[in-house]
Amino acid sequence: MKREITKAVFPVAGMGSRFLPATKASPKEMLPVVDKPLIQYAVEEAIAAGMTEMIFVTGRNKRAIEDHFDKAAELEAALEERGNLKLLSTVREILPPGVHCVFIRQAETLGLGHAVLCAKPLVGDEPFAVILADDLIDAKPAVMTQMVERYSYYRRSIIGVQNVAREHTDQYGIVRCGSALNDVHQIDGIIEKPKPAEAPSTLGVVGRYILSPRIFDHLANARPGKGGEIQLTDGIAALLKQEQVLAYQFQGTRYDCGSKIGYLKATIAYAMSHPDVSAEFIEHLRIVAARLPAEERDRAAA
Ligand code: UTP
Repeated sequence: MKREITKAVFPVAGMGSRFLPATKASPKEMLPVVDKPLIQYAVEEAIAAGMTEMIFVTGRNKRAIEDHFDKAAELEAALEERGNLKLLSTVREILPPGVHCVFIRQAETLGLGHAVLCAKPLVGDEPFAVILADDLIDAKPAVMTQMVERYSYYRRSIIGVQNVAREHTDQYGIVRCGSALNDVHQIDGIIEKPKPAEAPSTLGVVGRYILSPRIFDHLANARPGKGGEIQLTDGIAALLKQEQVLAYQFQGTRYDCGSKIGYLKATIAYAMSHPDVSAEFIEHLRIVAARLPAEERDRAAA
């Protein structure tokens, strides 16, 4: 496969129903963690990994994401006039020079696999990355950078996995692994949301992929799977029969920001290390913790 990965696909057309009503008129990928929307963290991760073409697969609420990555001439002029150069550069740096955004529409929310297939005309015949912005991963270096490093060595499709609690396997695509070298496993099988008793392992797929363009053929032929949706997992299962696919057990802390509790945990973690607010926020957490009844405090510490 080609040496470099320059294209990143961001499927952002989901319903975000777990976050209603916040997601009624705006995509969940625009939810901010402290002061940046989830989609910006995802784009920064792609850029840090050397990617230059950002492909957004959007749905009915696409405007907010397009506007976020567009030049905001009036806002920039107003900030400049007020002499607020720090904020001016914050706004200007959202998209560095040489990085481009393109948008394509998923007319119906037929599933993640279908959303990825929608990107085919823009990806063409080259390997590409897929990043799910609602899986926010705190890692140094960022997970996509870790994966691109492995990709440049193995030149195979690679999917990001992490160990999940066995009772939660029915929330993830779960891989069955063959041989492994350190943190890279060869995948023998993959199954979408298996019941704990049927899960072939506890390695769950989270939203980071580097995929061979041959995945598109399999997605085009895929039938609706779990939940009546065209599943990316089913496309990967078919790809596996044609070529090797690897699972990479990444280093980092992942927050499922598609769920309320995951989003709240991410907000706390990121606020605790944000230079503008960390000191005051940590002090506030101390005050809040001191107000908890003793048994709640013990439970939280356990
Ligand atoms: P989710 O499984 O989290 O679904 O999608 P969702 O619809 O966004 O959220 P809930 O379950 O209703 O709360 C995983 C990723 O796939 C994208 C989503 O935007 C999210 O990034 N997706 C999903 C699409 O782009 N299109 C689809 O048809 C389905």
